Amino acid sequence: MDISDLADIARQMVAPGKGIIAIDESSKTIKKRFDGVGIECTEETRRAYREMLLTTPGLGEHLSGAILYDETLRQSTRDGRRFVDVMRAAGVLPGIKVDTGTVGLAGFPGESITEGLDGLRERLKEYVTLGARFAKWRAVIAIAEDKPSTACIEANCHALARYAALCQEAGLVPMVEPEVLMDGEHDIETCHDVTEATLRALYNALYEHNVLLEGTILKASMVLAGKDCEEQADTEEVAEATLVCLRAAVPAAVPGIVFLSGGQSDEAATAHLNAMNQMGPHPWPLSFSYGRAMQTAALKLWAKDIGANVAAAQKIVAARARENGLAALGKWSADAAA
Ligand code: 13P
Repeated sequence: MDISDLADIARQMVAPGKGIIAIDESSKTIKKRFDGVGIECTEETRRAYREMLLTTPGLGEHLSGAILYDETLRQSTRDGRRFVDVMRAAGVLPGIKVDTGTVGLAGFPGESITEGLDGLRERLKEYVTLGARFAKWRAVIAIAEDKPSTACIEANCHALARYAALCQEAGLVPMVEPEVLMDGEHDIETCHDVTEATLRALYNALYEHNVLLEGTILKASMVLAGKDCEEQADTEEVAEATLVCLRAAVPAAVPGIVFLSGGQSDEAATAHLNAMNQMGPHPWPLSFSYGRAMQTAALKLWAKDIGANVAAAQKIVAARARENGLAALGKWSADAAA
């Protein structure tokens, strides 16, 4: 696979009106989500839940891809169809989370570094044989007094660049995700400064590591005031601040930017994406790669009666995909929402 094949996959990931569903929660994270709705977390309940999501009728209409966790990439539907085959049939590209999560960054209390580089070359080879077409690695940058440190930003961007280079060598499009967390009391300007510094460090590192930007996708966090900040920005301010930041720091060679939802409400995540697209045109397509903002409502309903609520939960998944697909075109409106 050469760079034009990678660029082709990257373009498919951000095809007009389409985005990505992130269902790559680690077994630890999905247990938290299941605990929240009173569902036991077993290999079988995880499989059944992911089957509900991935067999949603019309899945590929507004979704170009889905990011899976290692366990899910190997799983099948109850009637024996491999999830990756179900996705392929629906025109949805299989993606795989390949980092192994975050640990504390030694010497920097309260900051974290993402792990998973050891043995990654071999794991990526296997993921390709299992059907993955793109990968994801999430770095986490927290804002607090005197945080993030330069060391935290640099270490995480270095890891992202090494991961991205390994992905391209293996024939996978690396989705690079430096998430600036919403947690905290910081204002939107602080989020802007930290996000811009992080993105600049990221693109320097990708350049140093010979990563070809045409075969990557950026998964970005939006520029928002901290969750506990008294002064919250309105939709237009968030959209404008995020765009100013991205324009300053993300090269035009990047084929597309998708956003994480990061704890925003479903409606806020959709409204912000829509507002940004209404302010276009931009150097890159802007779309979504939401986890919680795609799943929360569907999970809640499914959990009420796992056996009986599959079709109803799938309707919610399809509706969220449609709304976010419209937002990726700047054609969503709150009134038209289901
Ligand atoms: P959220 O949209 O829930 O933030 O998850 C997206 C994701 O994949 C984070 O890595």
